[in-house]
Amino acid sequence: MTHDLKWSDAPPGEVLDPVGIWIVRAPAGQRLPPGGAPPDWLDEKERSRLASIPQQAGREAYAFAHWALRSVLGSSLGCSPRSVGFLRQPCPGCGGAHGRPAIRDPDQGGEPPEFSMSHSGDHVAIAVAEATIGIDIESWPTPESVAGYLPFLHPKEQQWLGGRPEDELVRDFARLWTRKEAMAKATGQGMAAVMNRLDLTGQPLGWRVRQLIAPPGYEASFAVPASVHVAVTVHEELPEPMPEPEPEPMRA
Ligand SMILES: CC(C)(COP(=O)(O)OP(=O)(O)OC[C@H]1O[C@@H](n2cnc3c(N)ncnc32)[C@H](O)[C@@H]1OP(=O)(O)O)[C@@H](O)C(=O)NCCC(=O)NCCS
Repeated sequence: MTHDLKWSDAPPGEVLDPVGIWIVRAPAGQRLPPGGAPPDWLDEKERSRLASIPQQAGREAYAFAHWALRSVLGSSLGCSPRSVGFLRQPCPGCGGAHGRPAIRDPDQGGEPPEFSMSHSGDHVAIAVAEATIGIDIESWPTPESVAGYLPFLHPKEQQWLGGRPEDELVRDFARLWTRKEAMAKATGQGMAAVMNRLDLTGQPLGWRVRQLIAPPGYEASFAVPASVHVAVTVHEELPEPMPEPEPEPMRA
């Protein structure tokens, strides 16, 4: 059963930007035939990425996340999951071909929607919006992992986290980390640009970062430009995938 949750951060009378968010649990083994060929709805780049993942569990998580993303975007564009085409925008840091993923040739007229995707453990988070958006979901890390990453955070973030009991530290570190990754994806610059350079204990200049209600043991956040007032709908289930187009009839 779906429990869609709707909320908005807009003052009365503001223009709202609709944001669709899907936080979905991946059933084990979903979308990846064991030991078989990669699913034929993946494009060439996705297949080579899938092939580079060493563990079966990682390959399954990747396949499900990309099925989920294609289903959500296909439903938004009115096409089948397989028909969704992707490109990479140039990285704003170095111009390389590893910036924000975007939709290619939507063939729908008008601007295609913006989107962002994240996977962690057996969960996937997807955001679709008219505005630039970044989303991140993370399972709670181990205390050892928190201790390892703490020195690389912004000094104010280290201070903010300091002196907490272990269970709160793990939760709040994960919250902060999702805020950082949401920003890293919204700007397209990656984590290096936000790691110790951006203090995410508050709102970064020009951006609005929001925490989402995540499943137990997970945290999730999204980031949008500060000028955007969102009307958010959070879904727990994927939309029914749009059917494949009928094959062209044979000409006599
Ligand atoms: C982008 C990044 C924040 C993703 O975080 P992650 O913990 O690895 O993984 P998540 O599951 O949360 O997100 C992965 C998704 O983010 C998206 N993504 C990847 N690069 C992105 C970018 N530059 N901007 C926005 N989104 C990006 C993709 O949809 C990706 O899905 P895929 O790996 O299945 O294709 C992280 O990998 C990173 O910082 N990469 C470094 C980018 C880089 O090389 N920068 C060089 C600057 S010169």
